[in-house]
Amino acid sequence: MDHFTYRDGVLHAEDVPMARIAEAVGTPVYIYSRATLERHARVFRAALTDLPRIHIAFAIKANPNLAVLRVLAREGFGADIVSGGEMKRALAAGMPAGDIVFSGVGKTRTELREALEAGVGQFNIELEEEGVALGEIAAAMGKQATAVLRVNPDVDAGTHAKISTGMKENKFGVPFDRAGGIFARLAARPGLAMRGLALHIGSQLFDLDPLAAAYAKVGELAQDLRGEGHVIDRIDLGGGLGVPYERDKVPPSPADYGAMVARVTKGWDVTLMFEPGRVIVGNAGVLLTRVIWVKPGVIRPYVIVDAAMNDLARPAMYDAWHDFEAIAPSGERMVANIAGPVCESGDTFAMAREIDVVRSGDLAVFRTAGAYGATMASTYNSRALVPEVMVDGDKFAVVAERILPETIIAAERVPDFLNN
Ligand code: LLP
Repeated sequence: MDHFTYRDGVLHAEDVPMARIAEAVGTPVYIYSRATLERHARVFRAALTDLPRIHIAFAIKANPNLAVLRVLAREGFGADIVSGGEMKRALAAGMPAGDIVFSGVGKTRTELREALEAGVGQFNIELEEEGVALGEIAAAMGKQATAVLRVNPDVDAGTHAKISTGMKENKFGVPFDRAGGIFARLAARPGLAMRGLALHIGSQLFDLDPLAAAYAKVGELAQDLRGEGHVIDRIDLGGGLGVPYERDKVPPSPADYGAMVARVTKGWDVTLMFEPGRVIVGNAGVLLTRVIWVKPGVIRPYVIVDAAMNDLARPAMYDAWHDFEAIAPSGERMVANIAGPVCESGDTFAMAREIDVVRSGDLAVFRTAGAYGATMASTYNSRALVPEVMVDGDKFAVVAERILPETIIAAERVPDFLNN
């Protein structure tokens, strides 16, 4: 459930009519609802109440905006980070360093050192050499890094190939059959405190069975490691729960997910760690856009909006669906293609979609744009970097400014050798 609703035929974000934000900030603009973020954080936590010990680390990559992170920090969420930049954001938003989990297949030595200096709570090691380096850096600093080993359970998560991460040909985690040996060797290193295992098999998951199968495999490995005398006191189950981009395609609920986790992990006696991203922020954001033209097409019209693939990359990258709704629908419907102004045919949000009738100048939204939306934006075609707004009841604030081409050009230089 979210707080983007029609009142008297006009779409509101909480108590704010969309048109008010368009007038004040312009379009395109991402709009987040604080109440929705809080609700999703609480629903997710409530779904896990049957589990003895948990830690929730929001996957910052889904939405790293500082205001969003602050809302989640206030809900007691830590952070799952994959870069030094994300660490800076988590800390700036007030998330305690000890609640941060550092994931990612390409952490540099500099990033590892800075994370140790900051006191990051857990490192999810993706390959043996990384673990060796982390141990050496930590030992040289007189520290011990708390770490878990990310394993690749070789399970097909049944999602889009570009967001599938747990099959053996994927770059993530160590191969399942080598994990025991790698764990034992790393556990013997002085700078490392190896405490458990991690996995993450993919994103936008609609089927709990592959997750359950992967969790069970990791649970067995944990038992084997304990049998060899290792301390296993935490298992990081990753993220991945899907959201309903299309109204009639409903993913498992957080409660369904929580029940599955409780069943599969019964008796594990560990702290279970979670890295949800999309399920927390996806439906807490929309992308507000204005129709520039309705261009007659040969087969059907093109609705050309002022948002483009540089603002919301998901349709171009993953053929993703985002519902498109007029701010003040007349009730009439039409079938159209929806595209942005960027000079690529890939800058198309939808083909042959039945939508509200819109005309030049009308406002509309792409729904479920709070996850992997603004954070994947670029300035391609020298467009401005899209701004972000957060709504709280009848108030709203710009939480990321529109970065204009002038500002971006100011960071570029024409070298002297081109001046003569
Ligand atoms: N943990 C790890 C280690 C991850 O790699 C990811 C996402 C998550 C947690 C969070 O997954 P979530 O709960 O959000 O599914 N840009 C793509 C999604 C990429 C996901 C990458 N990893 C998209 O727009 O669909």
